[in-house]
Amino acid sequence: MQQILWTRMVIPDHISEIKLFLQNRNEASAPDAVIILGSGLGSFGKQLSGLRSIPYTDIPHFPNSTVAGHDGKLLFGEIDGKKIMAFSGRFHHYEGYPLARTVLPVQLAKAMNAEKLIISNAAGGINLHFRVGDLMVIDGIIRQNMILSDPSEETWNYELYPYADKARELAEKIGVVTQRGTYLYVKGPNYETKAEIRAFRKMGGDAVGMSTAPELMEAARLNVKAVAVSLITNAAAGVTDQKLDHAEVKEAAELKKDEFAKLVRVLIREL
Ligand code: HPA
Repeated sequence: MQQILWTRMVIPDHISEIKLFLQNRNEASAPDAVIILGSGLGSFGKQLSGLRSIPYTDIPHFPNSTVAGHDGKLLFGEIDGKKIMAFSGRFHHYEGYPLARTVLPVQLAKAMNAEKLIISNAAGGINLHFRVGDLMVIDGIIRQNMILSDPSEETWNYELYPYADKARELAEKIGVVTQRGTYLYVKGPNYETKAEIRAFRKMGGDAVGMSTAPELMEAARLNVKAVAVSLITNAAAGVTDQKLDHAEVKEAAELKKDEFAKLVRVLIREL
């Protein structure tokens, strides 16, 4: 038992060095919430009062965020009196980083003793009832050949989405309509084929994207309270005749940013 608990909590040494760096920058206090901002959702940073921003390139052991629509800055500030640390720009496996490095935000949240983690992403809608602009609280993930941890590590059987229902209740309370559904993880970076999306729909996927599944798994492993929300930025390949491009993803995120902010704020306050 002791052994299992220890394995669950283990975080890599370099995370402690990052924590030390932040302490030296006077950002030592435990955040009430850590937020990972998905594609196009970086403007959420404007909601923070007393904003401090550190470029990823200044922080030891931080990979660079190379994707358009991802800023590459670690933000600190307050919202509704709560201390926030936000990742404006995330790390994707398709950028060439090992999966174990892409979960750095979750490990840092744990090391900083954050109370909760809110994960967001842009995703393509597979479910035919979804519309562009819908917010989907993730209550299931399907992984495509994703191996996160060392194969010698204990097998995965953690509860990944214990806060999905609570998140949806809070959204409803403040009049934000949400969907719920299964996020199907693909490595990317290319979008899916129409045939893949048809297959993914049969498998039970409601939305498809290239992040978040590793982060949710790491949060479960480290026992960090986490909830994940997808913004449906486009219909997945073949759902409509429209061709997919990244500009569309950013545009949809821009249109929904206020609603998204409203939802994140209630999660920060009450989850
Ligand atoms: N597919 C994969 N990832 C995505 C999509 C998509 O259609 N939209 C936003 N991220």
